[in-house]
Amino acid sequence: MNPAATCPRAVLVYKSVHHQNTAQVAHAMAGVLGAECVSPDECPYSRLADCDVLGIGSGVYYGRPHDELLQWVRGMPEEHARDFPIFIFTTSGLPFLAKLWHAPLKKRLARKGFDVIGEFACRGFDTWGPLWLTGGLNWRHPNERDLQRAQEFAERVAAAVPAPA
Ligand SMILES: Cc1cc2nc3c(=O)[nH]c(=O)nc-3n(C[C@H](O)[C@H](O)[C@H](O)COP(=O)(O)O)c2cc1C
Repeated sequence: MNPAATCPRAVLVYKSVHHQNTAQVAHAMAGVLGAECVSPDECPYSRLADCDVLGIGSGVYYGRPHDELLQWVRGMPEEHARDFPIFIFTTSGLPFLAKLWHAPLKKRLARKGFDVIGEFACRGFDTWGPLWLTGGLNWRHPNERDLQRAQEFAERVAAAVPAPA
């Protein structure tokens, strides 16, 4: 299947600084969506001009998505809120708390009037602080199953957003 032929134009903006866990998830989703993967500093807002759906992803650091990503979202022009919906994805040591980890992002997006159409979270290998001494948490995550879930999530996003005419 040629993703570009059937998918909405998607951009994935993400920050992944610990073990590239979130980068793996971003690339799995991008493969389905035919999307570009970029970091916030590589993504001037003008790049969103012909975007049909935007994915925003991050590892979780001290209970929040990466600060650079939050700053980027803070600067996003509100006019875009009418142009495309957004989905959020994170990897973390404790993804069952994703609702909590996603809250700062969702709050900023809601304030600007953006529509969040989906959220994805999975386990990410974590050797933060003392965890390093124990060999870390979530060894080998994201694993094949996590990445398959990420792809299935991306398929649902593609089905929910109309492709360009
Ligand atoms: C400095 C630091 C702080 C972290 N804080 C949290 C946290 O508050 N909650 C959590 O569940 N995981 C936390 N983690 C684990 C990361 O969220 C997890 O390893 C994630 O998959 C990293 O993604 P990345 O490899 O894309 O950077 C932290 C990791 C680091 C390095």
